[in-house]
Order: sequence, then C-alpha cells, then structure tokens
Amino acid sequence: MPAQADAIVLFGGTGDLARRMLLPSLYFLDVDRFLPDGFKIVATARADMTREAFLDEAHKILQGRPEGLDEAVWARFSARLEYVTADATTAEGCAALKPALQGAKQPFFYLAISPSLYEKVCVALAACGLATDDTRIVLEKPIGRDLETSRQINKGLSAVFDENQIFRIDHYLGKETVQNLIALRFANTLFEPLWNNLTIDHVQITVAETEGVGDRWPYYDEYGALRDMLQNHMLQLLCLVAMEPPADMEPDSVRNEKVKVLRSLRRFTRAEVVDRSVRGQYTPGVVGGKEVKGYEAERGQKSGTETFVALRADIDNWRWAGVPFFLRTGKRLPERRTLISIQFKPVPHSIFGQASSHDLMANRLVIDLQPDEDISLTLMNKAPGLSQGGMRLQSLPLSLSLLANFEGAGGRRRIAYERLLLDVIQGDPTLFVRRDEIEEAWRWVDGVADAWSEANLAPKPYAAGSWGPPGAFALIERFGRAWSD
Ligand code: BG6
Repeated sequence: MPAQADAIVLFGGTGDLARRMLLPSLYFLDVDRFLPDGFKIVATARADMTREAFLDEAHKILQGRPEGLDEAVWARFSARLEYVTADATTAEGCAALKPALQGAKQPFFYLAISPSLYEKVCVALAACGLATDDTRIVLEKPIGRDLETSRQINKGLSAVFDENQIFRIDHYLGKETVQNLIALRFANTLFEPLWNNLTIDHVQITVAETEGVGDRWPYYDEYGALRDMLQNHMLQLLCLVAMEPPADMEPDSVRNEKVKVLRSLRRFTRAEVVDRSVRGQYTPGVVGGKEVKGYEAERGQKSGTETFVALRADIDNWRWAGVPFFLRTGKRLPERRTLISIQFKPVPHSIFGQASSHDLMANRLVIDLQPDEDISLTLMNKAPGLSQGGMRLQSLPLSLSLLANFEGAGGRRRIAYERLLLDVIQGDPTLFVRRDEIEEAWRWVDGVADAWSEANLAPKPYAAGSWGPPGAFALIERFGRAWSD
C-alpha cells in the first residue's frame, strides 16, 4: 500500500484553477472527513500575500459557492492552510516552503501553473531536497501542444521523477458518470456480449459548451478545440467505451487497455480529412437569450483557430472494425451537454406490418455526463391501447437518473477534482494518464492537425448558439447517420 500523503503544496495557489476547483475540492474532502488528521495545505505563488489575506480569500471563495460554507468545517479546514510567497522555479524559492511543511513526511506537489515551468519547478524541488523517491507530483494539461513538445515536457519531468510518481490529471476521469461507465460495462453481464461490431452500429461522443473562449484566448488560440478538448477528455471517453475488459482495476491494467485503443485509432490521411472532419469557429450570435461576440472579436484579430470540431474516428481492431465513432465538441453551442451515445443496429427483420415497422427504432444507450447524470436505454415497446392495422410501437427510455437517486440518499454532486485529489493522497494512479497514453493521443491528434494543414482546411464559421457549421451535419449524414439529441 502506498503511504498516505500528509500535505499538499499547491503551486499556482492564487490562480484560477486553485480558486475554482482545488480549494473547494479540498474543503469538500474535509467536509466528508476524507482529509487525514494533520493534513496540511500549503498554497504558494509569487504574489506577496500574508496567511491572513489568503485565508480571507479562501473563506470568500467557499462562502460564495452554492453549497454554502459550514463554519465548523471551516475552523478545521483553515487550520490546515498556509500561504508561502515564493518563486518556485528556484531552489531558494522551493526551500522557502520547508517551514510550512515541517512535520510532513509525505507531501505531494500540485503544479497548477504553466507547463512551461514544470521542468524548472521539478529541478528546483530536487535541488532543495523536497523531491524524494516517494514524492508524488500532479500535473495539469496541456502536456504539450503536439507529440514533440509533450515528449520534451515528459523528458524534463522524468529527469527528476519516475513515471509512477507522476500523476497527470484529466479531470474528466474524476467525473462520477465517467467512472460509472467502467461499472456499467464491467459490473453487468448485460452489455459486454453486445459491445462489438456485431450489435453496435456506431458511437457518438458530444461535448457541447455554451461558454465562449472569452479572455482565455491567449492560451486557446494556440490550441483550439482539437488540442484543448479532443486530444484529452474526448479520447479518454472514447478509450473507456472501446477498451477491452481489464483483468482488474490495478492502475496499469486499465491504462494498458486504454493505450491499446489509442494505438488502434486509424491515422487520418490528407485525402480523407475533408470527408471525415469539420472545423468551425463561432461568429456573433445568441446563446441562452443573450447576444454574444464572435471568437475573432474576443481575440481582437483574425484567427485560424477552431472552436468546434467534429470528426469520424475508426478503431482498427477486431471488436470495432467498421463501427464509426463520431466525436463532436464546440464552444458557444446552444446547450451545455456531454453525452456518449451507443447506437445499436436495427433488428435484422421486422415482423410488424408496414405501418408498425415505420415506428421501429434501433436501441440506443445514452450516457449523459452533464448537466444531468443519467444513463438511459431506449427500448421499443407496444404503445398502450387499441389500434387498427397492426400493433403500434413506441420507443421509451429505461432511465437511471443518477443524480435523482443519489440526492435521495442525501448526496451532492461532487467536483471531479475531489476524487482525483483523494486518489493522489492515497497514491492510486488508476485515473491518471500515463506517459504513453498522452503520447499516443498526441500522435493521432498530430495526424489530424497535419492532414488539416496539408489540405488547407480552414475553420468554417457558425453562428454562436447553433450546433456548429452545416458541414458537421453533412459529415455524419455522409455516413448514413444523424447526431443524437
Ligand atoms: C478544460 C478545457 O480542460 O475543460 C476547457 O480547457 C473546457 O476549454 C473544460 O471548457 C470543460 O470542462 P467541463 O468539466 O466543464 O466539461
């Protein structure tokens, strides 16, 4: 059993991620008594700030959340908090953390900072003696912008840490429904025999956001939807849908299976890219009843970056040969919705007359991740009542509304980072992304990006509040399917 961590050092402790996700997640872990006794939280950044000022900030952040703040928990939580002003890229800066870590035997380090600083901080941690053979280090995306740059980052890290010490976050893996996908597939006998190209027609994965890029454009303009969402979150979802059953839930068993899927993804060629992918960029429009700017107005100049991508992926292995995976993600779409839809094949022969056959729809398993967490299986059944000229059929969902069931048990919806932080504390890397996974994902995504540039495929405009450029509909229709809603 790996040793339980007894402290976290949060680099980028005053940043956006720390404020929105990490501090609240740590607080909620404390609410549920998951933080070990004496666990310390040391936030650090260059900003000159006293501990009191940091505590005030943290209090405000937590109080401002919809869940509200429990002052009794706050008393316990705030006693754990320290703030250290330091330049973590130097050994002296890292050494300044030591007094706050006094007594901690197993601190771990969370780099919520620019990836361009990862290597320097790791070297500084080693130089001041804070990085040992058991030290865990947690990294945020983006790990590189392509295979080459991700390798450079990974190489820099591996000079100081072994792979089993490195925890690369993909926060989608911390989402309840994403883990539930593993349970659904491997804790039931029902689906696995059907989970292949004999029964499944195609798979769709949609991650739709209503938010625009806003003032994140300096980062986003360099990455675009392909690198920001598809390379990581969406390929992780695809891997969990497509992987073979691992022998157990040991970290490497699951990750080995995911890597095999990534290796089986068919490379894009220049000839195919136009038929199999669409890039889009939002122009002004209306989202949620409000007029919003186009991407270029936010960016302040013309840009060739896509804020929408749709593509057909193929997994060249025995299980999935011939089953298209349609992936689609975009900003400024009409609704926030993340779903995985498994479309089964139609019945091979209809015993119902002409009129009834018209109603016959193939089964579909829809896994909704957000905003609602729901798993539903549409089944055909007889419409109640009498009818003339054959049986009337209807399709109805068999629905497992996770939130409703969970709320009944007094639960609340967790932040994905809670699960992941708890796993780091316990030293369980199963839900973190291994180096070879990241690199295989980049290899495939580089192929898409290269094919786009060879084919000069510029993003097509779409009005904010629409479902992307018309080409996204044409893409899926070209292969005889339609997007699920
Ligand atoms: C991040 C991307 O990784 O995921 C953002 O950088 C995106 O652009 C976000 O908005 C989406 O996460 P979620 O959990 O809100 O779906």
